[in-house]
Amino acid sequence: MTKITIAIDGFSSTGKSTVAKRLAKALGYVYVDSGAMYRAVTLYTMQNGFIESDCFDVEGLISQLEHIEISFKLNEDLGFAEVYLNGENVEKEIRTLEVSQFVSQVSTISEVREQLVKQQQSFGKDKGVVMDGRDIGTVVFPEAELKLFMTASAEKRAQRRYDELLERGDDVCYEEVLANVQSRDHIDSTREDSPLTMAEDAIEVDNSNMTLDEQFEFIVSLAKDKINSLHKKKRH
Ligand code: DC
Repeated sequence: MTKITIAIDGFSSTGKSTVAKRLAKALGYVYVDSGAMYRAVTLYTMQNGFIESDCFDVEGLISQLEHIEISFKLNEDLGFAEVYLNGENVEKEIRTLEVSQFVSQVSTISEVREQLVKQQQSFGKDKGVVMDGRDIGTVVFPEAELKLFMTASAEKRAQRRYDELLERGDDVCYEEVLANVQSRDHIDSTREDSPLTMAEDAIEVDNSNMTLDEQFEFIVSLAKDKINSLHKKKRH
């Protein structure tokens, strides 16, 4: 069967990774969480003292980029790949509110983006990939056969993120999470390098009032239609 590339972009906490994982599983594709890669670089930046509340040593981080190795390894029990930073599983550490508070700043650095985009493109070279992020349909895979752009109100997204953090046992308040969602929206969509924008040929999915199953059904049918139509075209 013809394999395609599926790019899922959108604002933070729009449920991109939840639907992307399920979609990849249904199609037998590889799922890549590009946000996890920016989060892992952010964790490294924090661990090495290059970023603190009011200071960011950009040059220091850039000088260390060649020492940052990010990889994904399948967790058989969970059924998806977890992210590793220099050989260490950091899947849990990268999801804290602290990392969320710095990740948009780290993501503005062009040298960081250049390194991660190259790696992301190599993951997708054989197609059969579902990747989610902010610039997948515009920069990483501008030729992707299917591009989706997920949106939902900031309040809905903050509530979902807040519930997730509470479930993990993190001590957070809703207002703090909402402020983080709004601040990341602003930084992600106004940065100079690869800002979050909807690709011209993307399909917008506003999931404010959709259940997870409804989103999945809608998106998997878009993907199957696209795969079938390209498959037929190739045979003729
Ligand atoms: O998808 P996420 O919320 O885990 O992403 C974390 C941050 O990483 C996000 O606020 C911006 C950045 N990011 C990016 O700049 N480009 C991507 N392709 C993915 C994420």
